[in-house]
Amino acid sequence: MKFLKLLNQIGLIAAHRGARSISPENTLTALKKSIGKCDFIEIDVQFSREGVAVVMHDDTLERTTNVAKIDSFVSKKPYKVCDFTIDELLALDYGSWFYKDENHKEPLLTLRDALEFIKENDIFLNIEIKDMHGIFSDEEVVDTVVKEIKNSDASESVLLSSFRHEYLKIIKEKAPNILTAALVEGKHPHRLLEYLRELKVNGYNLNNELVERQTVEMLREAGFFVGVYTVNDSARAKELFSMGVNSIFSDSLNKKLEVNSL
Ligand code: G3P
Ligand code: MG
Repeated sequence: MKFLKLLNQIGLIAAHRGARSISPENTLTALKKSIGKCDFIEIDVQFSREGVAVVMHDDTLERTTNVAKIDSFVSKKPYKVCDFTIDELLALDYGSWFYKDENHKEPLLTLRDALEFIKENDIFLNIEIKDMHGIFSDEEVVDTVVKEIKNSDASESVLLSSFRHEYLKIIKEKAPNILTAALVEGKHPHRLLEYLRELKVNGYNLNNELVERQTVEMLREAGFFVGVYTVNDSARAKELFSMGVNSIFSDSLNKKLEVNSL
């Protein structure tokens, strides 16, 4: 599989939420701007009220949309994504907060749009599924995401990751050919290798502060690819790649050439 082969190489750059240093994160523009500057793209996915998969990082809308400026939505404070219907989400603007210009708007990006984009542009995509337990059942989340991927004929072009590891287990039961990676922050799971084998994941994506050479070597020897987020410093990127880390998630894509020539 082409994406798995790529993910096992060392020195990869993932565009974290698209090219988010130069465009509004998780928008189509951010995806477009990352082409040619990364090895694959990372986006975050969660659901609207009726369960439509949309591309958004925060579980509330205030930081990356104009929701707080729309009087009719005041009653929906604190503006949780899962409290908004897809039509309401489509009515918001995802660009002016970033450009600091009310006239510079960007539309909502749905998972379907993102999948269509990566197929057209022949680029790989890491879809991070946000933790939605307590709102949607694990089965419903996985079924919806997997269905979108299959409908777009994109099974070979995506990697699914999540901090909610239950999703990853279900994905491998329902769609064993789709690549998965366990996301962790702050602390490794107990008996790490056994844990990852049980989840049947292909890789392990951890935060920068948690990385030690020994763990990276152990994971790579056991056949897992290793990704590290978020790395915006080329000296640190070089250090991580020298430990055997496969990919870094970066906001700062102009580092690609610098890092690759190190
Ligand atoms: O998938 C890596 C990284 O995106 C995880 O953290 O909070 O930026 O989604 P976050
Ligand atoms: Mg993410």
